[in-house]
Amino acid sequence: MTLSLSKSRKVVIIGTGFVGSSYAYSLLNQGVVNELVLVDLNRDKAEGEARDLNHGMPFGSPMKIRAGGYDECSDADLVVITAGANQAPGETRLDLVSKNAKIFKSIVTSIMNTGFNGLFLVATNPVDVLSHVTLQVSGLPKERVIGSGTILDTARFRYLLSEHFQVDSRNVHAYIMGEHGDSELPIWSHVQIGGVPLSRYAKIDDVENDKEMQDIFINVRDAAYHIIERKGATYYGIGMGLVRLTKAILHNENSIVTISTLLEGEYGINDVFLGVPAVVNENGVRQILELQLNESEQQKLEKSASILKEMTEKALS
Ligand code: 2OP
Repeated sequence: MTLSLSKSRKVVIIGTGFVGSSYAYSLLNQGVVNELVLVDLNRDKAEGEARDLNHGMPFGSPMKIRAGGYDECSDADLVVITAGANQAPGETRLDLVSKNAKIFKSIVTSIMNTGFNGLFLVATNPVDVLSHVTLQVSGLPKERVIGSGTILDTARFRYLLSEHFQVDSRNVHAYIMGEHGDSELPIWSHVQIGGVPLSRYAKIDDVENDKEMQDIFINVRDAAYHIIERKGATYYGIGMGLVRLTKAILHNENSIVTISTLLEGEYGINDVFLGVPAVVNENGVRQILELQLNESEQQKLEKSASILKEMTEKALS
């Protein structure tokens, strides 16, 4: 189903730092929403971003962009949270947990006080933990709180594989699952290039233990560190990943994307948000895909879940 053009699609972005503003820029270029409101503690920054983006309107698709306050969330379809501290060089995503959990409790409470009844998309790190905080503080049904999870890691994985094999990244099907962070894992057993399993395509018997393939994964896992060392932050990739998710949601696409969602028994894991492939549409997370993992993948996923669970318990307490 595609939405009629007249249906309003209102998105509010909380936080207009590098990630929030790159997402806004990408939304404008791709013409995904009708109305975009930028909210930031620094109202002048939000105002400046809104004006700058509006001046590109004649080159993009018509839409309304303005700076505003939390009250704008009351009738929003989607609230995207990118606010919070980001990693300094050498810091892990999980190092940010106490700072950002505190900020989130206050942000989500303010949003819910407006009567907001849409979907949350969370991008701030550690994204799995903060998505869980958002679920708990908002009291919304679990399908309506989505974390960006491993959408970017999966994109990085597909891109690096596509470079290695010189095949369009859109024809490389591969998933990174688990934490968006150091304990994430590649699902080698399901990598396919144009429908051909990777081991067959690349003529490698044991893909998981192949040195070149392992190096590709390490570059995926450590990509953010490499970028932060060089330019201080990452934002274009995640900005585009958030637009991909926004389209899946607002255009009711039923797309399969790797997002962070609450597991309740899937993969034998309970009560923790982590990155899994899932079907996403206008109601949020419709269904989690349960891939048949091999033993080592299952073990790594469980390990990632237990790391996140411990962190989440601290953040929720
Ligand atoms: C990234 O992976 C830092 O989480 C951010 O680019």
